[in-house]
Amino acid sequence: MGHGIAQIMAMAGLGVSMTDVNREFMEKGYDRIKWSLEKFVEKRTIRQDEMDAALARIKLVDGYPNTVSNADFVIEAAPEDLALKKKIFSDIDAHAPPHAILASNTSALSITALGSATKRGDRVVGMHFFNPPQIMPLVEVIKGADTSDQTAQTTFDLAKRLGKTPILVKKDVRGFVVNSVLGYVFNEAFWALNRGEATRDQIDSAVRYKAGFPMGLFELADFVGLDIIDDATKQTALEYADRMKIPPVVEPMVKAGKLGQKSGEGFYNWKSGRPRIPFELADEFDIDRVYAVAVNGAAWLVYDGVAVPEDIDTGMKFGLGWPSGPCEIGDRLGLDIVVAKLRELQAKFNEPTYKPCPLLEEYVAKGWTGRQAKRGFYTYA
Ligand SMILES: NC(=O)c1ccc[n+]([C@@H]2O[C@H](COP(=O)([O-])OP(=O)(O)OC[C@H]3O[C@@H](n4cnc5c(N)ncnc54)[C@H](O)[C@@H]3O)[C@@H](O)[C@H]2O)c1
Repeated sequence: MGHGIAQIMAMAGLGVSMTDVNREFMEKGYDRIKWSLEKFVEKRTIRQDEMDAALARIKLVDGYPNTVSNADFVIEAAPEDLALKKKIFSDIDAHAPPHAILASNTSALSITALGSATKRGDRVVGMHFFNPPQIMPLVEVIKGADTSDQTAQTTFDLAKRLGKTPILVKKDVRGFVVNSVLGYVFNEAFWALNRGEATRDQIDSAVRYKAGFPMGLFELADFVGLDIIDDATKQTALEYADRMKIPPVVEPMVKAGKLGQKSGEGFYNWKSGRPRIPFELADEFDIDRVYAVAVNGAAWLVYDGVAVPEDIDTGMKFGLGWPSGPCEIGDRLGLDIVVAKLRELQAKFNEPTYKPCPLLEEYVAKGWTGRQAKRGFYTYA
């Protein structure tokens, strides 16, 4: 991720100092930048002189003091380990100019905790890019408990300058916006499989061909890496024990070394390339179940003051390629229908995931059932 982020900064005209634990890794990152820029030139997205200019803006620098001493903005993309990142933030804090903003590309760790490792918690922020950052348009800008509005705004503006579409995550919750909604959706697929209600192929077929998601959920889980999914869902379940219980589906696979695409096998066998998901099974899983938990997850984010509906929808569309966001889906289906579906599932399985968010119940009680009623998550003319 680090080299991809450095590349887009340089492409946007910014001077970049890039570091890693040793020269070899830095040079590997630099080679990947060159490779990616060459692809852009081949595809005529940029010109050769633009590639040369971008490369000329990137310096490889040894050690934090030299890397950050002149920086206005620092982005950390080290491995996902809180102790390591806290150490890095503390070191960077000691050497970066007082005005510099320190951002982390963490997918799941607490921005507040990273801020507390520095003396400038107000200038520490989450800047979560999606993989690959050279291509994916979304950036989640996450406010920790101490992050100032000014810091969030500067980070938002920088993301725009990079040509990205930023969304604001107003509270430092695990999973931020996109992985939080996705976590509920993954969990629904894992439970349905675990209970023997549907097969992998039936669920993925409905998700691909009925919902129009770019990948099936099991396919996406394999693509992301089952170790990462296991870790992320556990963190979310810890924070939201009253809303989520994880079925024993992914953990045993991780223990058996089945990590998804990167290990050659996960839910699918990847040795002969991307799996073929059968089209003809799309009606064999009730896609409204996936929608209902996604809408509920989005409602919790609004209810908890984490994000506004527009940003949640932008996040799911630009971060994951969903054709519509969960708030749009809820308004289109009817929030009363969504609540009824959640209650039906709750009565059947008695799982906390299906408890309707009080926000949805409130909207339905007020008659704000969505598009047809001209008021739901959004107001319609
Ligand atoms: N891979 C993804 O899809 C993805 C997407 C979004 C966010 N992220 C987040 O981005 C971060 C990096 O992920 P990645 O997949 O690029 O990991 P990675 O392991 O590929 O890269 C991490 C790099 O950090 C370097 N590093 C380790 N310790 C360091 C230190 N003390 N100082 C400087 N550099 C150090 C490593 O040598 C390595 O080159 C993580 O926080 C991850 O959660 C990853």
